[in-house]
Amino acid sequence: MTVLLAIESSCDETAAAVVKDGHEILSNIVSSQINVHTLYGGVVPEVASRIHVENISAVVTEALKQADTDMDGIDAVAFTQGPGLIGSLHVGVQAAKTIAWAFHKPLVPVNHMTGHIYANCFVAELRFPLMALVISGGHTELVWMQNEWDFKVLGTTMDDAIGEAYDKVARVLGLGYPGGPKIDRIAKEGSEHYTLPTPKTVNPYDFSFSGLKTAVLQLIQREEKAGREINTADVAYCFQETALRSLVKKTLAAVEEYRPEMLVLAGGVAANSRLRVMMEEEMKNRKDTELIIPPLYCCTDNAAMIGAAGYVAYKHGQFGTFDLSADPGMAMPGEDC
Ligand code: KG4
Ligand code: ZN
Repeated sequence: MTVLLAIESSCDETAAAVVKDGHEILSNIVSSQINVHTLYGGVVPEVASRIHVENISAVVTEALKQADTDMDGIDAVAFTQGPGLIGSLHVGVQAAKTIAWAFHKPLVPVNHMTGHIYANCFVAELRFPLMALVISGGHTELVWMQNEWDFKVLGTTMDDAIGEAYDKVARVLGLGYPGGPKIDRIAKEGSEHYTLPTPKTVNPYDFSFSGLKTAVLQLIQREEKAGREINTADVAYCFQETALRSLVKKTLAAVEEYRPEMLVLAGGVAANSRLRVMMEEEMKNRKDTELIIPPLYCCTDNAAMIGAAGYVAYKHGQFGTFDLSADPGMAMPGEDC
């Protein structure tokens, strides 16, 4: 039995969890800063790091308490080393190093994106080869895993991440932050009223969302200039359908070419209700590839997922030293930055 204390602070959630053998969550505490950042219309990095500093001790203490353990029951301390906001990352890194040093525990640095992928361990035992569609506020990646802890990025975004595009479109529509859940909700009342351009890329597995985002902005300006009232639900619907169609089409093409045992969704945008329906619909007749969609609580940032990925890193002997630092642009294990 291996029990990890996991710490996550890469963006605007201060989180700690205790995870047994990589798939059993003994506790999972997430302190969200969303209410504060909503006031500013997006994450303010300096504010985020300050709130992490204020909350980290209480969050870690609560995670140990809810798991009914203390540091004697912990085998190693896993933490998000990157990618993410430098100031936010530093808080979790320093906390993990301090705890590991004080209690003589090994340190396990974890790449946040591997955490999003391994969050699927809480749903099913992962089978390889596996394809992961990693979609968050900072990333849009198709990741091929031939084996456990073996990552190859097949495609990535050429500009904005999909979550970032959701957040920016929501802002111009006056829906507030975070935009993803708001567009998800309002798009249900919309219809195909506007036409938006389909994103294009040279590499079929790369993504691009900035042209689509600009097209939404231009559409709004054009309608305003023409004195026509904007139908927010219709704009949200058309943006979402166009963005998700591109995402689904590329993912299916990759599944068709690589034929994985499993296709997993990962990251905050995997919480999107329309995407979940589209993916289930498209995958239902593909008996060779099992689709795994994580429950909502492990789509957005949390520390349990860092405990899940940290457990695999631990098994592979990937320990950190006390001189390591936060790595805001951290590449996937085995991939160059
Ligand atoms: O994974 P995550 O919590 O943080 C990062 O690692 O970036 O993802 C946050 C992103 C935000 O852009 C947010 O708007 C988006 O996930 N998101 C959604 C939904 N819920 C969160 N996007 C679309 N639909 C949702 N329901
Ligand atoms: Zn994330």
